[in-house]
Amino acid sequence: MSSFWTWYIGIITVGNILACYWLILWTGKPRPDEAAQGDVTGHTWDEDLQEYNNPLPRWWLWMFYITIVFGLGYLVLYPGLGGVAGQLGWTQASQYDEEMAAADQRYGPIFAAWAAKEIPTLARDADAMQAGQRLFLNYCATCHGSDAGGSRGFPNLTDSAWLYGGSPEAIKTSILDGRAGIMPPMGPALGEQGVAEVTAYVLTLNGREADAGLAASGKARFESMCAACHMQNGSGNPMLGAPNLTDDIWLYGGSPGVIKHTISQGRNGRMPAHGDFLGQDKVHLLAAYVYSLGQSPAGS
Ligand code: HEC
Ligand code: HEC
Repeated sequence: MSSFWTWYIGIITVGNILACYWLILWTGKPRPDEAAQGDVTGHTWDEDLQEYNNPLPRWWLWMFYITIVFGLGYLVLYPGLGGVAGQLGWTQASQYDEEMAAADQRYGPIFAAWAAKEIPTLARDADAMQAGQRLFLNYCATCHGSDAGGSRGFPNLTDSAWLYGGSPEAIKTSILDGRAGIMPPMGPALGEQGVAEVTAYVLTLNGREADAGLAASGKARFESMCAACHMQNGSGNPMLGAPNLTDDIWLYGGSPGVIKHTISQGRNGRMPAHGDFLGQDKVHLLAAYVYSLGQSPAGS
């Protein structure tokens, strides 16, 4: 915090406390025109209702003093004046760190025990999977959906189609290190006609209707320009995250218009790395959870 704000906050805060003290002293002093203590003040309400001039009860006054002392004491011990650190050295951040460390100490051994198990074994441990689901809801559901079903641009993690592979190791690597899918924009190289041809070919790869003439020219183009990543037969390459283009499962949508757009403009899906942030053990548990989603019998 800049020293300007430290002074700004400090002067207003301390000034207010001192002003309260002054106000108590000032109102406690008898004024020249005031009735002596115990006498009636001379104010009259409702014809005959009069008022004695009695001081505030002592205990009431003490409460004000105690509040002032408490306030000043608090400001000495805790950070309350802009950038001035309190004598106790307490900060919100350090309290957060301490609580996190305490939680790590408490739950760390549990995660560590789970981390020692192989992912396929762990995926059958009901307690572990409950904890895994909670982590998933906290850290992954924003993108992949609370049922891990995904949405446009965010892959479904419950089916058998994987961009980067569905083995325990591949899933864990995806979560630990993140992934970046690079589908280059092919529009400039292909031209409008070329994009239309290749789109028609991709549609036929999925058993969908397309102009046969276009698709035939598209096949040649595909084999020279797309096969390096999507493979000769279009089945995809998990090393690059290049999706299978023959299973009619689409990350970005499978309508002719969307496929055309993907091919001409390119796509750049990003899965952020979670290793540093969550640590190895939690990532291991999450990998087991994601792995378990793909293992349940179809339809359940
Ligand atoms: C450099 C490698 C590379 C080349 C070359 C390439 N692609 Fe891709 N393609 C990818 C990657 C990686 C993705 C996934 C992008 C992502 O995850 O955001 C992708 C995604 C796609 C998709 C979207 C699939 C879906 O599920 O929504 C289509 C369609 C596609 N590519 C078609 C093609 C066609 C047709 C060509 C040739 C004209 C081509 N690609 C060339 C790497 C490539
Ligand atoms: C900011 C959004 C975002 C968050 C948060 C996120 N993901 Fe992802 N994730 C993605 C995207 C986008 C992809 C696809 C990357 C690509 O297109 O190449 C992906 C890909 C994956 C893959 C690879 C899927 C495949 O088909 O190979 C796995 C596994 C995965 N995420 C798991 C997780 C888990 C577990 C978490 C929580 C710890 C998580 N993700 C959090 C956006 C996210």
